[in-house]
Amino acid sequence: MELKNIGKSNVQVTPLTFGAWAIGGWMWGGAEEKDAVDAIRKSLDLGVTTIDTAPVYGFGRSEEIVGKALKEVPRDHYQILTKCGMNWETEEGEYFFETNDDSGRPIRMHKFAGKSRVLQECEDSLRRLKTDYIDLFQLHWPDATTPINETMEAFEKLMEDGKIRAAGVCNYSAEQMKEALKTTELASNQVRYSMVSREMETDVLPAALEAGMSILPYSPMERGFLTGKFHSGSKFNAGDTRATSKWMQSDNMHKLEKLIAVLQEMADGKNATIAQLVLRWTMDRKGIATVLAGARNPAQIEENAGSLSLSLSPEEKTKIEDSISELGLIS
Ligand SMILES: NC(=O)c1ccc[n+]([C@@H]2O[C@H](COP(=O)([O-])OP(=O)(O)OC[C@H]3O[C@@H](n4cnc5c(N)ncnc54)[C@H](OP(=O)(O)O)[C@@H]3O)[C@@H](O)[C@H]2O)c1
Repeated sequence: MELKNIGKSNVQVTPLTFGAWAIGGWMWGGAEEKDAVDAIRKSLDLGVTTIDTAPVYGFGRSEEIVGKALKEVPRDHYQILTKCGMNWETEEGEYFFETNDDSGRPIRMHKFAGKSRVLQECEDSLRRLKTDYIDLFQLHWPDATTPINETMEAFEKLMEDGKIRAAGVCNYSAEQMKEALKTTELASNQVRYSMVSREMETDVLPAALEAGMSILPYSPMERGFLTGKFHSGSKFNAGDTRATSKWMQSDNMHKLEKLIAVLQEMADGKNATIAQLVLRWTMDRKGIATVLAGARNPAQIEENAGSLSLSLSPEEKTKIEDSISELGLIS
């Protein structure tokens, strides 16, 4: 499998990454642990050896499941990307939103990336992941209450100590990236990006290209809406935040269904699926080191890994672009 370096770091990743948010259950209406463990092992069997997780995904659960699934695998056979800076235990940091955990307990989320907290979070992640280093450690969300250089100093210390191989951020603006780069060599910015969520192309992508950083796109399948499986009458489990997604509003769903019809026809002609086409399209975009694709079971990762051997011609890409613009779907 062709590997790519994340930014200027020496961390090499597969073109597709196993996204481990949904397997934490929280915000996804729960998750089956056995399916999740099997999915991660299947991912490695298929050569998709890069895994992206975070402490907040299921409040430790996603990291623990990843650690459990990989505990017998030699450490240099996979790459772990995890995060820090989402605080659900104290009121420290910038208030973010209120939520409930899977047992219904109310939780107030804060974005917090003070130096000592970041160092502690790294230790907690290493323990849950059953490893002694993290390949890419990323700030999950910007924290307006902590100076950017303070968080970056924590990353520097962790790299010096050999606990992380590279540092990255998520959801940073172009200005925040430039500020952070004054203190440390950032490898990547992980941002929302799909055929129909293109905001990062305006200034985040040019700033990343200029700095030699990689973009790690998340939610490339729009959390399942870009696979063609949802429609206006779709029902979701309790706690699945997709029930209130903008795609469930009739105007948006109507446009999305038209795009799905175009993608379905193209996929049929290539003996592929819509998810595979969507992931291939994302992999082929500029500045991308690896596409983060969520999966909850072995069948989904197997289907998604099929995108690795797919190719899209320039004509097919133009057709997709034209359909998206005609439908006014780009945001
Ligand atoms: N840094 C950040 O702030 C941030 C934010 C979001 C995500 N992320 C990362 O990016 C990863 C990917 O994003 P995402 O999980 O939000 O969205 P996504 O990859 O667009 O969608 C993943 C979901 O779609 C469904 N799915 C996956 N493969 C499918 C297939 N072949 N056919 C039909 N449905 C399929 C699954 O959910 P169901 O089976 O329940 O439908 C899966 O959990 C996350 O797992 C996480 O690691 C990071």
